[in-house]
Amino acid sequence: MRVIVPPIKSQGIKTKLVPWIQALVPAISGRWIEPFLGTGVVAFNSGFRKALLTDINPHVIRFYQGIKDGEITPRRVRDYLQKEGEQLEKAPNHGYSHFHAVRDRFNTAYDPLDFLFLSRAGFNGMMRFNRNGEWNIPFCQKPKRFSQAYITKIVNQVHDVSCLIQPAWIFRVDSFENTIREAGTDDIIYCDPPYIGRYVDYYSGWTKEDEQKLFELLSRTPAQFILSTWHHNDFRANPFIESLWSKFNIITRDHFYHSGGKIENRKSIVEALVFNFDANIEKHNYGVRPKPEQLMLFEERAEYITQQLDRAVI
Ligand SMILES: C[S@@+](CC[C@H](N)C(=O)[O-])C[C@H]1O[C@@H](n2cnc3c(N)ncnc32)[C@H](O)[C@@H]1O
Repeated sequence: MRVIVPPIKSQGIKTKLVPWIQALVPAISGRWIEPFLGTGVVAFNSGFRKALLTDINPHVIRFYQGIKDGEITPRRVRDYLQKEGEQLEKAPNHGYSHFHAVRDRFNTAYDPLDFLFLSRAGFNGMMRFNRNGEWNIPFCQKPKRFSQAYITKIVNQVHDVSCLIQPAWIFRVDSFENTIREAGTDDIIYCDPPYIGRYVDYYSGWTKEDEQKLFELLSRTPAQFILSTWHHNDFRANPFIESLWSKFNIITRDHFYHSGGKIENRKSIVEALVFNFDANIEKHNYGVRPKPEQLMLFEERAEYITQQLDRAVI
């Protein structure tokens, strides 16, 4: 499966887990509902024609709504990044002056293109906002960040995403509670909430009460759901697996992530998918063998994504 990578970056991005998640999605006729959209990488690779995509972070929603409305186009992104990239390269203090100028402009006017700039010129592809809701990731220290090749890569990502966003996709700033309550029998909900204690910021605080609330809502929903969470790491187990989620089906898989630029910060974690439908899995296991019809559907959706991308030209 070719995974479509979105133009926005964040430390919690699920790019590497997309094929695993998508292979589990059951055959349903309704909407893809994603209450913790983040960068959108899982939704963009879902192949669904109808979707409800929400997040409490208004910047990601505004950015994708801008693409849907045709206000943010690949051409506009190229022109913008070329202009800002040149200014970054020439700016005093090894680019810092211009990075700070864009950051301050964003923190006042919230322009989605400035959000894209900060996401791609910030340290290590991270996204974080301080207690006042202001951008809080430092410069990647590369004044020549926006080379032609890098701009083209980002422009192509904007293009891919603009091909995949459908008229029946709704983007909205909302809480997970409101979004999950809207789901009906024919829908699939994919949840990727913040993991407690990891990368806390203005939009990503997560408490035991939030986890409990999420559990109650997902226990009551008439829809099918898949929840991403962590199962255990080298030091401890996720207590909510035992206390809450074990009443559902769970599959797990090893995953490596970087919590910083250095190789020694590469940590392993066992990721889990919790779900409330039958996937032919007898007990908790490592790995997944989806049913043949799930795989066929997966291929059908992947084919649909390819068609959408082929139809469009930049
Ligand atoms: C782990 S990230 C999702 C990452 C996403 N799956 C990806 O691959 O990019 C969690 C997201 O949940 C959002 N969020 C945090 N608390 C929320 C809440 N109470 N309601 C809705 N969204 C929330 C955050 O803004 C963040 O974008």
